[in-house]
Amino acid sequence: MEKILLRNTDVKDSHTLAVYKSRGGYRAWEKVVGGIFPEQLIEEIKASGLRGRGGAGFPTGMKWGFVPKDSPKPKYVICNADESEPGTFKDRLLIERDPHAVIEGTILAAYAIRSHTAFIYIRGELAFGAKVLQRAIDEAAQAGYLGKNILGSGYGLDLILHRGAGAYICGEETGLLSSLEGGRGWPKVKPPFPATHGLFGCPTVVNNVETLAALPWIVDHGAAKYAAIGTEKSKGTKLFSVSGHIRKPGVYELEMGYPLRQFLEVDCGGVPNGRRLKGVIPGGVSMPVLRGDEIEGVRMDYESLQAAGTLLGSGGVVVMDESTCMVKAAWNVARFYAHESCGQCTPCREGCHWMEKIFWRIENGQGQPGDLDLILSISGNITGNTICPFGDAAAWPAAAFIKKYRDEFEAHIAQKKCVVSA
Ligand SMILES: Cc1cc2nc3c(=O)[nH]c(=O)nc-3n(C[C@H](O)[C@H](O)[C@H](O)COP(=O)(O)O)c2cc1C
Ligand code: SF4
Repeated sequence: MEKILLRNTDVKDSHTLAVYKSRGGYRAWEKVVGGIFPEQLIEEIKASGLRGRGGAGFPTGMKWGFVPKDSPKPKYVICNADESEPGTFKDRLLIERDPHAVIEGTILAAYAIRSHTAFIYIRGELAFGAKVLQRAIDEAAQAGYLGKNILGSGYGLDLILHRGAGAYICGEETGLLSSLEGGRGWPKVKPPFPATHGLFGCPTVVNNVETLAALPWIVDHGAAKYAAIGTEKSKGTKLFSVSGHIRKPGVYELEMGYPLRQFLEVDCGGVPNGRRLKGVIPGGVSMPVLRGDEIEGVRMDYESLQAAGTLLGSGGVVVMDESTCMVKAAWNVARFYAHESCGQCTPCREGCHWMEKIFWRIENGQGQPGDLDLILSISGNITGNTICPFGDAAAWPAAAFIKKYRDEFEAHIAQKKCVVSA
């Protein structure tokens, strides 16, 4: 398979403008700014079938198309580089090893919606990535790819790097907007959507790092070539970050629709130490877990994973072998959500802490009859009842762990101790 997203990441000094340009970098932007209208660019990205890689899989060209063309207000593009979901570390690789692809993609998106100010909102903890990106932004500006009157076209764009303060909720697009506006990272009720009422109430596009990094290749090679890769509805390639009980963890680029079992057993070398695969979360910890015996026939694309009862999400693949206590795993995930809830909505604020406490007591031998149904009830009351999708992201995995491993949870309660690691 031809690499699209990881085409530069293993090349020496891939973070520099010289190396990026020697490998065809900024060719797409030169072509576009040299005579392609923004509307044509939007049509091209629609035709490519590219869908957002930040988790929701929304079609990118369609999202850009929602931005009102003739708004008197300024328009903004924001590259979402907040990557904070446990198990997800694919954007970091692009930021550190191919920053110019991220920048060129952000420039293309800005041009498509006629924006003159763009931001990269980077997770606070990615200090090295921020350094690499700022250097690359300076290099791009120096070379005339950013700034006023770019390459003599009359079009101008400023790109500003903004570092977050390390809150997971600032990756949610409206939480990000609140944070960038200088407030607490509190998500906002949608609608209205950012495309019409975004940063400072102005039309705004928020796209994920990986989504934007795919754009230069698509523009350079043509939408049809991109659309020929993948499945009917999931086009192109996708990055997956693999961690946990696996021989070869890391970031992989796969054609959409790649078989999950083959990926884990062949590409990633399988589960080490002769142990059995007990479970895998294919899309980051906010997605439901699959049992080891459920992965047969499952493919790595939006539709196939949904049909299997989970979601592609951010592509953070977490592998767990038979030595994993699923109660402890569920508690660990619940603890993360309890810590990161912004606290605005009662079901999320109260429910996340409540679920965490119950998982903890089950793991520590104090579980009570009825605890599992109580968690399922709390999870059900959070789902769909909150301002932002964080609530669902906390509720789904909690319910899935119980449904998939109910015997193990019940044994913990009946025997009043951990039955796996004890
Ligand atoms: C709790 C939460 C955290 C999120 N974190 C991120 C993130 O770190 N990076 C990201 O790109 N999208 C994240 N998203 C999704 C964004 O809200 C948004 O959908 C995405 O940035 C849109 O970009 P895309 O269309 O290119 O996928 C998060 C969503 C939720 C609910
Ligand atoms: S769902 Fe949770 S994180 Fe999202 S706004 Fe409500 S309280 Fe905050």
